[in-house]
Amino acid sequence: MVNVAVVAGGDSGEFPISIKSGKQVELYMDRDLFSPYLIVFKGAKWSYRIGQKGFPVDKNDFSLTFGHRKVRFDIVFNAIHGTPGEDGRLQGYLDMIGIPYTSSDVTTSSLTMNKNLCKQVVASHGVKTARSVHVVKTTADPVTLIGNELVLPVFVKPNCGGSSVGMSKVNHKEGLNPALELAFQEDDGILVEEFIQGRELTCGVMKSEGSIIAFPVTEIISKKEYFDYEAKYRKGMSDEVVPAVVPESVSKQCQEISRFLYEKLGCKGVVRFDYIFNGNEFYFLEVNTVPGMTAASIIPKMARAHGWNLTELITRLIKEELKSQ
Ligand SMILES: Nc1ncnc2c1ncn2[C@@H]1O[C@H](COP(=O)(O)OP(=O)(O)O)[C@@H](O)[C@H]1O
Ligand SMILES: [Mg+2]
Repeated sequence: MVNVAVVAGGDSGEFPISIKSGKQVELYMDRDLFSPYLIVFKGAKWSYRIGQKGFPVDKNDFSLTFGHRKVRFDIVFNAIHGTPGEDGRLQGYLDMIGIPYTSSDVTTSSLTMNKNLCKQVVASHGVKTARSVHVVKTTADPVTLIGNELVLPVFVKPNCGGSSVGMSKVNHKEGLNPALELAFQEDDGILVEEFIQGRELTCGVMKSEGSIIAFPVTEIISKKEYFDYEAKYRKGMSDEVVPAVVPESVSKQCQEISRFLYEKLGCKGVVRFDYIFNGNEFYFLEVNTVPGMTAASIIPKMARAHGWNLTELITRLIKEELKSQ
């Protein structure tokens, strides 16, 4: 039997979503093949719970001790959105103690968590991105800089954020300062990006049995002005259409770019690329290297449309990683 530590929680605003993802992965894991243990991360506390009793992880070897019994893990299934699971920190620790994991490595995770750096790499491979400026605390007169470089409306985003937290769409120059202040509450760096008018399309990609597979393209139709926190997590505030109702050539192109970027960025496990399609071209928004796995999340829906239920998806993710050991 393969012992799998399903890690969830973490230290970002996405903690509750990650717990839901972790529980779902634990629930749907094939018990004939794997023994899952859900381990919750909160700061320096990493623990496994049985009822009211918590069992701390021994960080020397990432093991659990139950009386005289010690459980070691063959693999970590990463379900931590945001830090420390999506930015490479956990990956660095696991690499050092020699435990494989189901998500991208240190370099890819830390690059993709940094929206500003990631879009530069993506652009260097010829994929379009929105025009943007990077603002830090020492940037002199950011409002003038933005006014000179970009055309409003713009999105003001914490550079390493997620779940649309601390983000605003700014339609008028007067809105820039409050939006920058809000984003600075989340991060020391801010990405200010021109608004791209179009449809929001997203594509899940993973490696299985040696080939890179792109799932059916999905359209996100938000009932809010954009895919903000409420649209993401309140039931009925957005529709996810799987597969997207677009010409086949458009979905093929989206899948092709996504597979290409998966390879170029060196991704592992299942990831989700988000774009705005302006009717002509795809603008890369971001890549999520630990996408949601909750009952409402997009990746499980995409996998189902591809013909895999959640159990099969999880099995494939674990097997792919164990095979490469
Ligand atoms: N440049 C842009 N043009 C149009 N819509 C955008 C742009 N940037 C972000 N958005 C909208 O905001 C949402 C969240 O932005 P994103 O960069 O994915 O941040 P997060 O990491 O918080 O999800 C997107 O899903 C999209 O709806
Ligand atoms: Mg996003």
